[in-house]
Amino acid sequence: MNTKFAHTKILLVGSGKGGVGKSTVTVNLAIALAQQGLKIGLLDADVYGPSIPIMLGLRRLSPRIERSATGEEYLLPLTKFGIQVMSLGFFMEEARSVIWRGPMLHGTLEKMLYQVEWGELDFLLIDLPPGTGDILLSLTQLLKIEGALVVCTPQEVAMLDAIKAINAFHQLDIPLIGIIENMAGFYVPETQQTHHIFGQGKAQELASRFHTSILATIPLVTAIRQGGDEGVPIALYPETTEAGQLFHRLALHLQHNLHSNLNPFA
Ligand SMILES: Nc1ncnc2c1ncn2[C@@H]1O[C@H](COP(=O)(O)OP(=O)(O)O)[C@@H](O)[C@H]1O
Ligand SMILES: [Mg+2]
Repeated sequence: MNTKFAHTKILLVGSGKGGVGKSTVTVNLAIALAQQGLKIGLLDADVYGPSIPIMLGLRRLSPRIERSATGEEYLLPLTKFGIQVMSLGFFMEEARSVIWRGPMLHGTLEKMLYQVEWGELDFLLIDLPPGTGDILLSLTQLLKIEGALVVCTPQEVAMLDAIKAINAFHQLDIPLIGIIENMAGFYVPETQQTHHIFGQGKAQELASRFHTSILATIPLVTAIRQGGDEGVPIALYPETTEAGQLFHRLALHLQHNLHSNLNPFA
């Protein structure tokens, strides 16, 4: 295996189900870690719907191609909010759907990892597509993965898909780091009531079933959605928003547990 990421902890963010907030968690966590002084790379590996360019305000931009002294071409990742970013979305027209074959996917991922000048990274976060298909398999062949974070909403269908994702991680010897519960209740300040729009309790059930813990519980918050749509994620504002603070706390937790040479999950 290539030694390029020898000093980088590589974390996957998966869920099984789409639309539960993987990309949202990935960008916010990446920003929080970067703001805490770490060197962070973010690889958007969601071929079916790469949303990282939008969430980071990098729409319609393309990475620069450079040539090394020995004549080899390489790409420079885009940099935003202190994160180095590479996304399949940079190479696709937004409205076009691309039908990928397994070997094409593998080759593209390989290029996005090894023909990109990432520089020295402490963490590389990889935003996975929904499902448990070719991408996951390719990534495990291409990289030594530290572990996976699983994003799950409190509802049954999300849990069922998350179980499949976790089983796939187990089969591929990828340690499960923990669960991020997302969209966990919507608080209405006027009535001081919390509405459990996506149900309750299933992320906890998931964590118990796999003897792991919920590392963060993120409520449904309009500003999280807005931040994603507008390319200014909420984690940029930890002082003034509770949701921003939650991502910073998650980042601190991961830093303390993973940013050493001891692997507590080994
Ligand atoms: N906690 C949250 N509160 C409000 N909106 C959210 C939250 N998490 C995600 N969203 C929104 O839900 C949509 C789907 O999230 P996304 O991160 O794209 O999911 P995935 O990557 O799992 O498909 C996005 O529009 C995002 O802004
Ligand atoms: Mg996504």
